[in-house]
Amino acid sequence: MKFEKIVVMGLGYIGLPTASMLATKGYQVLGVDVSYTVVDTINAGEIHIVEPDLDIVVKSAVKSRKLTASLVPEKADAFILAVPTPFKVNGSNSKAPDISYVEAATLAVTPFIEKGNLIILESTSPVGTTKRVYDIIVEERPELCDLIYVAHCPERVLPGHILRELVENDRIIGGINDASSKKASDLYRTFCNGNIYVTDCKTAELAKLVENSFRDVNIAFANELSLICDKLDVNVWELIELANKHPRVNILQPGPGVGGHCIAVDPWFIVDSAPSEARLIRTAREVNDAKPEWVVEKVKNSASKFKNPVIGCLGLAFKANIDDLRESPALKITRELMNAGIGKVMPCEPNVQLTFTEFPLYSLDTIMQEADILLVLVDHNEFGEIDRGFLDDKVVIDTRGIWRK
Ligand SMILES: NC(=O)c1ccc[n+]([C@@H]2O[C@H](COP(=O)([O-])OP(=O)(O)OC[C@H]3O[C@@H](n4cnc5c(N)ncnc54)[C@H](O)[C@@H]3O)[C@@H](O)[C@H]2O)c1
Repeated sequence: MKFEKIVVMGLGYIGLPTASMLATKGYQVLGVDVSYTVVDTINAGEIHIVEPDLDIVVKSAVKSRKLTASLVPEKADAFILAVPTPFKVNGSNSKAPDISYVEAATLAVTPFIEKGNLIILESTSPVGTTKRVYDIIVEERPELCDLIYVAHCPERVLPGHILRELVENDRIIGGINDASSKKASDLYRTFCNGNIYVTDCKTAELAKLVENSFRDVNIAFANELSLICDKLDVNVWELIELANKHPRVNILQPGPGVGGHCIAVDPWFIVDSAPSEARLIRTAREVNDAKPEWVVEKVKNSASKFKNPVIGCLGLAFKANIDDLRESPALKITRELMNAGIGKVMPCEPNVQLTFTEFPLYSLDTIMQEADILLVLVDHNEFGEIDRGFLDDKVVIDTRGIWRK
């Protein structure tokens, strides 16, 4: 079967680049979102997120009428689900996956599904969710039993490089059966230049979670090193650089914690599925989650040496050169410092300067003039370009190592 029309559910960081890229490949794409603002913005040929070149691609896809946005789905050959999969706090100290958005999006497309259609779950999901998508559809529409194709194709793009990586990355595809894997591979081969590796849906689901847990565990190691080095008065950046000269050592970089929609979230899905077994994965999460508090204490310590300390917080995003604040340790630290009442806190985040409303943001120039303490929370390019001469009379707490020597 040839794919002509594709519905993409969820027009965020993953769904919008995917929908617009598919439109530029010639598919008729309907992007669906529950947000009026998102739908209106896209139909006006504009975008609501920061991602390099996405504005150009969306504008041209909308202008050519290959991409339209809507609040409701329509019939299509394939449905791609790219809705959020956050966690919910599970009473104690644990976090459980919240697949309610996937369930809602599945229910929303179910009335439009026809025999032979392909449903792809792109959202990062706990093991069993792809099968759950199929079960939801068949519970509502029993006549579709065994007549639709359902597969998981986890997304592994890097924010800031999404449009390129959507096309170039290798993909894992896991269907609920072989026919579903094949059908999904047929679609992805039309736009994906990377290799496509086919497996079952449970392995595909766990593979994505494992990729992010691998990163989390390794960042936890670097973060733990940063605490040890601080205690022993060793420069952690130099230490890691030297240790990495070993041919089989590759330590990642520490930071103020771990944020974002993926690495700070997905390992909990494994912990929730196998709590007794996932001991290292849980500990890594705990180490990374504890780092913001450590940074706050360090700033408080420095601030206690000033009468009326002015603290410049450089960056709120969860990583460099993006506007994404989800699970951001930088935002958490800044909020805590503001609530601690230890002086004047001046946050700077160039990537959300016009849209952020929670508290006032300051320009980098103003902060460089006024701050006694400079807390680097994100390694945005513009922070790295600061004239070092401005730093001489300031206490610098650099959690990202942008001024490492
Ligand atoms: N952002 C990333 O870098 C990244 C990378 C890999 C995987 N993922 C995964 O991709 C999925 C989507 O993430 P994202 O970053 O695009 O999220 P996002 O929050 O940026 O976008 C999700 C969009 O879905 C919409 N939505 C919510 N419920 C809906 C529904 N029932 N129907 C239609 N739209 C609905 C929201 O309004 C929002 O616009 C998540 O599972 C995430 O873990 C994200």
